[in-house]
Formats: sequence, structure tokens, C-alpha cells
Amino acid sequence: MAYVLLNDTIVARESASVDIEDRGYQFGDGIYEVVSVYGGRVFKLDEHLARLARSASELGIALPFKVREIKNKLLALFAADPVGDGMIYLQVTRGAAPRIHSFPEPPVSAQLVAYTRAGARPVQLQQSGVACTLTDDIRWLRCDIKSLNLLGNVLAKQKAAESGAYETIMHRGDTVTEGSSSNVYIVRNDRVITHPANNLILNGITRMTVEELCGKRGIPFVEQPFTVRELLEAEEAFITATTIDVVPVVEVDGQAIGAGIPGRVTRDIQAEFDRLIQAL
Ligand code: PDD
Repeated sequence: MAYVLLNDTIVARESASVDIEDRGYQFGDGIYEVVSVYGGRVFKLDEHLARLARSASELGIALPFKVREIKNKLLALFAADPVGDGMIYLQVTRGAAPRIHSFPEPPVSAQLVAYTRAGARPVQLQQSGVACTLTDDIRWLRCDIKSLNLLGNVLAKQKAAESGAYETIMHRGDTVTEGSSSNVYIVRNDRVITHPANNLILNGITRMTVEELCGKRGIPFVEQPFTVRELLEAEEAFITATTIDVVPVVEVDGQAIGAGIPGRVTRDIQAEFDRLIQAL
């Protein structure tokens, strides 16, 4: 991260700063996206920006620029600070104003911040699979918005960190929703099953990609709630997210999933995902 995009200016990392009264800082009042970069190619940027625009509109945040302009600024940032494998992080907050919960009146300009960061694909984890733990989903009821308010997710991920697991899978009552920073899937009878894309989960860009790839492979992609028990008894399970792609789940709370190794359908989807990336 040598440079940062601050609204319409690309500045050196050392001289990038934000106002202490920025509402992102004081209220978590903002939205964000994480975009994958593979071999110097930016993946699904339009889809991420469409989701950003949706998050903004759901929260009544006026984006500081048109989506097309944000795209051009991000590509200019990427040209100034390119990465091979890695990501582009971007966030938009409602802006900086004296602290009051309701929206600033008169409105202030939303603040855009973005930067790139190199990071290798977790190939080892993609091959071996990961262990996960479980926790109650204590988040709000608009998890479809990619909000900067991530405390529920942070606490859930910390549980994984403390128990030596890779990810924490959350559930509301008996129903599995998603991971602390990923979508969750099980495989049963050669069908991929995942929570419907409603207000209880983030509709992942990787999730949409997996849906497409399943279509291509003739694997039924079923959006249907499933229980913790169905997860534990699944033939296979996997998680997806930007920067990790498709990662098999081989253990949940100390219990092996299926044979305790990455499953056939999961590996099939991983192979298809790799082909997609290689064709970029
Ligand atoms: N998180 N669900 C949650 C709660 C997430 O935070 C993420 C991604 C996903 C997967 O979405 P996508 O496939 O669009 O990355 C699902 C990002 C990577 C993060 O917060 O770092």
C-alpha cells in the first residue's frame, strides 16, 4: 500500500489521513467492498461496484461520484499501485460532521477511501480444507448491506482465532446463515445448498460466481436454509469469499464433515473457479 485513493486524489500512504469526525470512524456509518486481483487482473469489479451502489442506496448514502467514475478512479489507483495477486479495498462513509446520530444536515460529502494490497491466494488451505467453529449469529437484520459495522463479524472471527479454527460459521437459532467473512454451503446428494440471498446474509460476489459455475457444470444450486445438524451431517461443506475463493470445510467444532477431506463436488467447483481465473 504505497498510495491511497482519497476521494478524487491519489496520495502517498504517509500523507493520507481522515477527519476524526468522519462518521465511519464514529458510527461505522459507511460501506465497503473487497475486490480480488488475480495475476494483475481485477476480478468482477463491476459486480462489486453494483453491490456498493446498492448498499449506499439502502443506507441513504449519496456516493460521492458516479459508479463509472469510481471505477475509473480505482483503476487509476491500481495503475499507480498495482499488485499481482491481492485485493483492492474501498470504503465510502457518510462523511465528516459534528457527532449527531441522525444524518448530517445540511448533508456533507461522502468520503471515498481505497487502497491495494498484495496477498497470495491461500492455495494450501484450498487444498487441505479448514476447520470451522460455530457461534450464534448476533448481528442486525440487514446483513445484505456490506456495512462497515462489523462487530458481530469481528467477535465471531475472534472465536475462530481463539479456538484454532479458520472460520466461524454463524447460525440464527438452528439455521446456518454464513461465515464471519464468508458464505457457507453444504453438499448433499450432489446438490449444493446455501442460505437464500435475503436480509440475513451478504450475497457474495464469489457466491454468485459459484452459482454460475454450478450452472455450467450441471450441479443443482439450491438456495434453501439448512440447519446446524444438516451441516454436521453433510457429505461436504465449503466456504467462499473474495481473496479465499472456494475453501473446503473438513471439520466443524471438532467433528469431521463427510470423510473429513475436501469433497468431490467441492473440488469440481474449485477446478472450475481456477479455470475462470486463468482465463482472465
Ligand atoms: N467479506 N459474507 C460476509 C459476512 C462477508 O464478510 C463476505 C466477504 C462474504 C463473501 O462475499 P464476497 O464473495 O463478495 O467476498 C460473505 C470480505 C472479503 C471481507 O470483509 O474482507
